[in-house]
Amino acid sequence: MSWPIVIRNVTKRFGARTILDDISLTIPHGETVALLGPSGGGKSTLIRCLNGLNTFDAGAIEIGPHRLAPGVRNQRSAVEQVRRSFGMIFQDFQLFPHLSVLDNIMEAPLRVLGLPAREVRDRATRLLERVGMTSHASAFPQQLSGGQKQRVAIARALAMEPRGLLCDEITSALDPELKGEVLNVLEDLKRDGLTMILVTHEIGFARRAADRVVMLCDGRILEEGPPAEVLERPRTERMGLFLKRVMG
Ligand SMILES: Nc1ncnc2c1ncn2[C@@H]1O[C@H](COP(=O)(O)OP(=O)(O)OP(=O)(O)O)[C@@H](O)[C@H]1O
Ligand SMILES: [Mg+2]
Repeated sequence: MSWPIVIRNVTKRFGARTILDDISLTIPHGETVALLGPSGGGKSTLIRCLNGLNTFDAGAIEIGPHRLAPGVRNQRSAVEQVRRSFGMIFQDFQLFPHLSVLDNIMEAPLRVLGLPAREVRDRATRLLERVGMTSHASAFPQQLSGGQKQRVAIARALAMEPRGLLCDEITSALDPELKGEVLNVLEDLKRDGLTMILVTHEIGFARRAADRVVMLCDGRILEEGPPAEVLERPRTERMGLFLKRVMG
C-alpha cells in the first residue's frame, strides 16, 4: 500500500511567534526529501509535527490513512500509528544506555509489537549486518563511536519495519569519515523504497541521494524541486547565499 505524506497549510506557533507559516507539501511514497535551511527556520519543528512530537495550530497532515490535525478526536491513536510506521532518528542517537546494541534493536519489536523473541533476534541480527555492526552486538552504547551509535539507531528504527524514516541532522555530530558511513547506509535504504525525510546540511549528499530538496526559511518553503534545479540554479538570492555559506 502506498503511503504518501500530505502536509496541508500547516501553521505552528510558539507563543506569539509563527514558526511554520502555512506550509503545504506532498511527498509521494518512496521519495527521499532533503530538508535544508538556516538555523531556526523550522526544519526540526516540521519533522516533529510529522511524528506527533509537536502539535500544530492550523492545517492537517495526512500520512497514509492517518490524519493529524488540531482539535481532532482519537488523535493519540493516529499519533501511535504514525510513530509505528515512521521511525525518527535524532542527532544525539538516543540509544538506551543500559542495553546492549542487540537489545536496543530488539526492545521495541518485543514490547510494542509483541513479536516472538526468536523472530525479533533474527531480524535484529540481520539489521546489524546490514549496517555493518555485527561485531558490536554485545557492546553497550558508551563503547561505540558516534558513527557506530548512529548506525545502531538506524537499525533500531528499521526493526519496526517502518514505511519511512524521519532524520533530524543525524550526521551533524560526526567526523567526516563517520558521516560517510552513515550516509552510505541511508543511500542503501533508499534503494529499498523507504520514504525518507532528512534534515541535513550535507549538500553533496542531498544532490546525490535526494529526489527533492525543500528549503525552509523563516517557517516558509522558499524553494523546492529536484536537486539539480534547486542546488544548481537557485531562483532566489536567499537560496544562493545559503548554498554559498553551507558549501564554504
Ligand atoms: N519548544 C519550543 N518553544 C518555543 N520556541 C521553540 C520551541 N521549539 C522551537 N522553537 C523555536 O522555533 C524556531 C524554529 O526552530 P527549529 O528547531 O524548528 O529550527 P531548525 O530549522 O531545526 O534550526 P536548526 O538548524 O538550528 O536545528 C526557532 O526560532 C526556535 O527558537
Ligand atoms: Mg533543527
